[in-house]
Parts: sequence; structure tokens; C-alpha cells
Amino acid sequence: MISDVSQLAPFITARQKQYMKANNHYAVVTGGTSGIGYELVKLLARDGYNLVIVARHEADLIHVANEIKQQYSVEVVIIAKDLFDVNNAFEIHNEVSTKNIDVEILINDAGQGQYGEFVETDIRRELDIITLNISSLVALTKLFLVDMVRRGSGKIMNLSSIASKTPGPWQSVYHGTKAFVQSFTEAIRSEVKDSGVTITALLPGATATDFFDKAEMLDSKIVREGKLDDAARVAKDGYEALMKGDDMVVSGIKNKLQVAMSNVTPDATLADKMKKQQAPVSSESK
Ligand SMILES: NC(=O)c1ccc[n+]([C@@H]2O[C@H](COP(=O)([O-])OP(=O)(O)OC[C@H]3O[C@@H](n4cnc5c(N)ncnc54)[C@H](OP(=O)(O)O)[C@@H]3O)[C@@H](O)[C@H]2O)c1
Repeated sequence: MISDVSQLAPFITARQKQYMKANNHYAVVTGGTSGIGYELVKLLARDGYNLVIVARHEADLIHVANEIKQQYSVEVVIIAKDLFDVNNAFEIHNEVSTKNIDVEILINDAGQGQYGEFVETDIRRELDIITLNISSLVALTKLFLVDMVRRGSGKIMNLSSIASKTPGPWQSVYHGTKAFVQSFTEAIRSEVKDSGVTITALLPGATATDFFDKAEMLDSKIVREGKLDDAARVAKDGYEALMKGDDMVVSGIKNKLQVAMSNVTPDATLADKMKKQQAPVSSESK
């Protein structure tokens, strides 16, 4: 008969060990109600992480929180904030700190793009996207990273993109924001290397989520004619890299090849190629 819990050790699976380790730890996920962020939320909950989920729409947050709490025995805190306003990044950190939640994992997933040629697109929307994809991500990273470095442990994952590796006609501002995210993530990773905190960049290719609808991009060749990746698969690649503390992961073989080609191709050539790939299906020879 087993009289001591330690005698159970040989029968505990790796998943159960991870669950026991994660219990009482919190992960903050921005954009956790949809697409890649939602899939990451499920992976974290499966492994026993309590969650703080951030997005704009409260009804979606409540829906996801109820689903997660029913399926996994973890706590879920929801914060409805619009990260188009950088002040909300500070409010999120403040709210989490006030609740005495020690954040072990931060995933900066919330991000948007806008489709169209730069001379045609709405500059106000593009400035909002720069705030969301860059300013709010930088603010949240700073605020939570300082706590993590002080504590000597933590993990951060920033949603970059294979778009970070190429100039992107038809999505010029979006590609620019992701180039920033990639460069920024690699730089601070090097700075905190010996601190006990790891920082990972996840680089998906075009993935089947609501992203393209929000970006008014449904008529783009890349969406209409390309094969979009599965969000759950992308999240799994990212989650594994995050847990290992890898510097970056490009999700999928096709995307790995594309990034390898980008690294040895002149930017002007890449831009012209991307201009064709991202053009509207309706356009002739743009
Ligand atoms: N899908 C792709 O092809 C692809 C490829 C490479 C990288 N990525 C990156 O992956 C990340 C997730 O995108 P996704 O494809 O999963 O998109 P998605 O399905 O549209 O999900 C976006 C999530 O972010 C939240 N969000 C959007 N704007 C926000 C704001 N202003 N403030 C707070 N939360 C906001 C959304 O909730 P609310 O709308 O309720 O706010 C939602 O939870 C983004 O950073 C994106 O750039 C996507």
C-alpha cells in the first residue's frame, strides 16, 4: 500500500508534474479571446496556469473565462481594456498588482493590421495599430519584466510574425510594427539573459483567425489563394518554445523556408514580391 505521497513519484506523468508546478502561478495573455491567443490560453489552462485575460469585448472575455473554468480547475481573471490606449497597459499592470497576483508568464498577443496602400489608408487607424502593436506591448513588457527580474523568474512571449522579416506593401505599417517587435524582443532577451527570465518571439505565417477580417484584408491574394495555418498548431509551437525559453520560433516548415529566404534576399526584391503576393485578387498586375 502507498503510505507516502513521494512513493507516487514514479507514477506521475510529465503533464501532471507540469500541472503541479504551474498551480498558483498566473499567466497574463492579451488578446486571449480569439485566434492564437485563445489557443494559448487553453494550453496554459491545461497545464494548470491561472489566467489573466485581456481584450476589449467583455462578453467575449466572460464567455472564454466560463469555458476555461468549466473545463480546467484554474482561476480566470478578466480585464476588459483597449490597448489602442497605452494608458490601459499601465492600468492592467496596476490592477494585477493590486490583486497581489505574481505573474510568471506574460504573452503579448493582442495585435492588429490594416490592409491597403499607404496613400489610401486611414492614418488614425494606423496610429492606433502602432500604439497597440508597439507602445502597449513595450509598456506591458517593461512593467511585468521589472517584476520578474526582481523576483528572478518569469517568461515573456511576444507575438511577432514572419512579416517582421520582410517589408510589406499593402500592410506597410503592420510589417513595420512586427519588425520592431522582433528587434525589441531579441534585444531585451540578450539584456536579461542571466536574470532567470526568458523572452521568446513567436513568428507565425498567415494563420486562419479573425485577423484578416479586422484588417479588411479578405480580398488579398494571400488570404484568398494561400493556405492559412491552423491557430492551434501555431499556438502549440509557440507554447513549446516559451516553455523551453527559446529565443524565437517560426511556426511551420513553409514559413521557416520563407524566413530563411528573406535573410538572404535584398529588401527591395522582397518588397516587390510581397506587393504581388498581398495584392487584392481583383487587381491586375500591381
Ligand atoms: N493571423 C495571422 O495570420 C497572424 C500572423 C502572424 C502574427 N499574428 C499576430 O498574432 C496576434 C494574434 O492575432 P490573431 O491572428 O489571433 O487575431 P484575432 O483572432 O483577431 O485575435 C486578436 C485578439 O486581440 C484582441 N485585441 C484586438 N485589438 C485589441 C485592442 N485594441 N486592445 C486589446 N485587445 C485587442 C482581440 O479581442 P478584442 O477584439 O475583444 O479586443 C482578440 O482577443 C497578433 O499580434 C497578430 O499580429 C497573426
